[in-house]
Parts: sequence; C-alpha cells; structure tokens
Amino acid sequence: MFRRLPCGALRPKGWRQIPDGATEVTSYPKTTALMARGAEFLGSEHAILCGAMSWVSERNLVSAISNAGGFGVIACGAMTPDLLDNEIAETKKLTSKPFGVNLITMHPMLMELIGVCAKHGVTHVVLAGGIPPKGSVEAIREFGAKVLVFAPTLALARRLLRSGADALVIEGSEAGGHIGPVATSVLAQEFLPELAEDHVVFVAGGIGRGEMIAAYLEMGASGVQLGTRFACASESIAHPAFKQAFFRANARDAEASVQVDPRLPVIPVRALKNKGTELFTQRQREVAALLDSGKIEMAEAQLQIEQFWAGALRRAVIEGDVESGSIMAGQSVGMVTKEEPVADIIQQLLAESESALGRR
Ligand SMILES: Cc1cc2nc3c(=O)[nH]c(=O)nc-3n(C[C@H](O)[C@H](O)[C@H](O)COP(=O)(O)O)c2cc1C
Repeated sequence: MFRRLPCGALRPKGWRQIPDGATEVTSYPKTTALMARGAEFLGSEHAILCGAMSWVSERNLVSAISNAGGFGVIACGAMTPDLLDNEIAETKKLTSKPFGVNLITMHPMLMELIGVCAKHGVTHVVLAGGIPPKGSVEAIREFGAKVLVFAPTLALARRLLRSGADALVIEGSEAGGHIGPVATSVLAQEFLPELAEDHVVFVAGGIGRGEMIAAYLEMGASGVQLGTRFACASESIAHPAFKQAFFRANARDAEASVQVDPRLPVIPVRALKNKGTELFTQRQREVAALLDSGKIEMAEAQLQIEQFWAGALRRAVIEGDVESGSIMAGQSVGMVTKEEPVADIIQQLLAESESALGRR
C-alpha cells in the first residue's frame, strides 16, 4: 500500500520522510500483530496504556498519550465528582481519541464518580486500589463502558473475570506507587499461561524498554501499562524539580516503603528515597500510637496513612518539594534520562519491541 507524500513521491505506507531526506521505519508489523487484541479492546492504535498517576495523569498527559496512539488514563485519586467531571470535560477538548478513567475502589464517593463517567460516556474505567465493591463493576458495565481490574492472585483474577470484569492488569512490585509483593516477571509466568488465551491481560511494572514489551506480548499479554517511563514526558505537568529527581535516579533509588507496626497493615509504596520516606515511617508510628490509645479505629488509621501519601505526592509533583514530598517512581526510573515528547517515547518503545521481535 502506498501513500503520496507532499512532495509527490510515493513511499510504502509506514515510512515517513525525516529532515535529512533519509527515511525511517514507522510501522511495527510484528508488535502491532501481537498487540491487535489489546488495541482493539482499548480502541487505540497501540496497546500501550499510560497507567494513571495521581496528580500527573491529568488532561495534558492523558490527551497527549491518546493523541500519540497510546491509551491515556485520568487518575481520579481523591478528586470529588465535580473535579472529575471537569477533568473529563477538559480532556475531551484536547483529544478525540479514547481514554480511560482510574477510580480508587476505597473512594467514599465511588458510585457518584461512576455516575460522572456515565454522564460523559467514558469508554473504559480502571478500578484500582483493592477488590471492587459490590455493584461497582455492574454499574460501569450498565452504561456500556469496559472495566479493567487489578488482581494480586490468580484465584482473585478468575473470580473478577467471572463476575464481569472485561480485562485484567497484572502489576509487579517493580512499579512506582502502591505495589504488591510479587515481581512482574513472576506474575507474568503465573497469570499469562492460564488466562491470556481467553482474556485481555495487560502487564505493568518495571517496563522501561520495548524489548521487555516484546517479551510479555510473546507470553500472551494483550498489551502493557507503563507509568514511570511517561511521568516526565514533555507534556507532563510534573514540576521541573520532580522531573530532575527522576533523571538523576537509578533503579536502586526507587525503594519500597517499610511497615513499622505489624498491627497496622500498610500497602507498600515505591518512591525515590528522600526525607519524605523517613517522615512516612514517623507518621506510621504516630498513627499506631493513636490506634493504641483507642483514639482511632483501624479503618481511620489506614485512611490517615493513605492521606499522608496523597498529600506528599501532591507536594512533590505540583509544588516541586522533592525533599519531604513523595517522589513515587518505579525501578525503571534509571531508564528515564531526559524530557521527551510522549510520541517519541511511544515510537522508541515500539521500535525496540519490533527490533527485538525481528531478531527472533
Ligand atoms: C507517580 C506515580 C503515581 C501513581 N499513581 C497511581 C494511582 O493514582 N492509581 C493507580 O492505580 N496507579 C498509580 N500508579 C501506578 C501506575 O498507574 C502504573 O501502573 C505503574 O507506574 C506501572 O509501573 P512502572 O512505574 O514500573 O511503569 C502511580 C505510579 C507513579 C509512578
């Protein structure tokens, strides 16, 4: 198939003119074929999701990802329904491509947030942060959207898929943000052979290059989800100091938080080590003491821990406080070395994947 370039020359589809007159490959047939099911599910050109990142995944980054052929996801985080309403409306002004909304299952207004997604005809809702409460999956499906869920174990994954979830994201402990205890490589070996034939499964956590994408696709994944690699894209509104911290960091700087009190279960968070990590340890001790004194119940204690993270992440991302704020980042942070447009990152990932598949 050929398309006519502005200069009048005919070139095969998938090639484009670059400034010095040479040509470079822009089509990725092997990768595209392996991503076909995921791309069809998402309605995007490539089955590459940019995982929702609180404060980072707002209208600018989300629309840039979708416009570049990936799949952007708004991070609702602790937003009120009104704020989410506005964010979706503003994102729609910047892209006509599909994008998703990530809702945290423990949000006290989850059903109202689902209502906002319904009002806007959002096509994909990602339920994160725990097992979806009763009625939430049904409510999303009722207005025609697809539901993506996370599952830490194979048994739970099967249950969620049986009870109406349309797709699964498996996310390993290499990822940035809240994490589970098992590495992506192990989850992929456990889940993909069992589920990938009959279900759409996206793999997340620790993916920094296209070679890794190729490997998971070959294992049966329908696509991948990346966060860390996109957090500092040119279109990301993250503060320059937040981006600089990423560019300076190595994989080993992205540490998982530790739980200090066995009675107070804390979901680990992977972030760049700084004073904020120590403040979190201190905060846990304070909350444990409140629990001891009977001043607060366990649910309130856990809520206070989560609120700590939300506030600390905002301080780092928006205000650039990289000392005491939380610089959530995955272990692939060492592969993030400069600010680049989203489109370039996606093209680079696809080219790396294609070249790896070509060498097989
Ligand atoms: C700064 C940051 C904030 C994040 N916030 C959220 C969030 O609000 N909700 C969520 O489901 N995942 C969140 N994540 C996880 C990402 O959506 C994504 O799954 C993860 O980054 C993928 O792993 P990677 O970081 O190794 O690429 C966050 C990740 C980062 C780096």
